[in-house]
Amino acid sequence: MGTALAKTLLKAGHPSTVWNRSVARAEALAGHGANVASSLTEAIAASDLIIICVLDYPAVKELLAPAAPELKGKTIVNFTTGRPNEALAMRDWISGFGGVYIDGALMATPTMVGMPDALIFYSGDETAFHRWQAVLSCLGRTNFLGAEPNLAALMDLSLLSGMYGLFAGFFHAVSLAASGGIPADEMEKLMTPWYRDILGFLGTYATQIREGDYFRDMDANLQVHTTALGNILRASQEQGVRAELLTPLFDLFQARLAAGHGKEDISGIVELMGRASAPVSAQFPS
Ligand SMILES: NC(=O)c1ccc[n+]([C@@H]2O[C@H](COP(=O)([O-])OP(=O)(O)OC[C@H]3O[C@@H](n4cnc5c(N)ncnc54)[C@H](OP(=O)(O)O)[C@@H]3O)[C@@H](O)[C@H]2O)c1
Repeated sequence: MGTALAKTLLKAGHPSTVWNRSVARAEALAGHGANVASSLTEAIAASDLIIICVLDYPAVKELLAPAAPELKGKTIVNFTTGRPNEALAMRDWISGFGGVYIDGALMATPTMVGMPDALIFYSGDETAFHRWQAVLSCLGRTNFLGAEPNLAALMDLSLLSGMYGLFAGFFHAVSLAASGGIPADEMEKLMTPWYRDILGFLGTYATQIREGDYFRDMDANLQVHTTALGNILRASQEQGVRAELLTPLFDLFQARLAAGHGKEDISGIVELMGRASAPVSAQFPS
């Protein structure tokens, strides 16, 4: 990802100095016009905007610690994937050295970096974000979520939760179908367009959750869905397919049902899940 970010910045005409722990990966960028620093301290000293993308936050801290005095007055944009609390701690740690912190979340693969639709979230120091927005915009679509540095990481992990949930449904479906000899390819051909159709329900659920009204525009009620999901779990067991990707959802359906909400829609389970209805402080693009 670091290579993709550097190549995109260079292609857009932004002079860039690069450094990587494995020297060869940084040196490979020399042919693209990068200035290759011989140390991280030298790389930080070379620019006012520092972009970091490594494995995880402990690696960021381990790397920056010896060069920390160089961070004074610099803007650090950290694209490393991490948790919201890690982003908050990183802001505090970097500002302790006089650096300005922006957290970034790349909702893109390396090949997508630089494409106008590559979705990138930022949060943290707003003044610094606006100062560097024109440079950062060459990497993809910039979305600034707010001054709290944890927001980009929160958005990143929330969107990825949606992705893993969708993949979990697909993996269960192909396993169940395979128990009857139906190949994964056939399932994919059916499921991709079917997923597109059922994604239309998300808008209804979002409205229900916002309004706290789980009857609104309801299609099938929780009682019906709980029976259907119970059938899936039982059939899976009978077919010799592990059911644990779906059992936590069934547990929440049952708990909500037991609390007397069987005639409502299934989105009411968010009431059991924590802070779904808490006010949001992020700024969203229109
Ligand atoms: N790949 C994607 O599609 C994608 C998408 C969105 C976000 N991201 C995020 O981007 C970050 C990097 O991912 P990647 O795909 O670029 O992985 P990668 O190709 O494995 O690169 C990891 C980078 O981290 C460095 N690194 C790891 N541990 C280190 C340490 N202890 N000290 C110093 N450097 C260390 C590596 O240095 P060496 O070269 O020396 O090993 C390398 O430069 C991750 O946080 C990932 O979640 C990736």
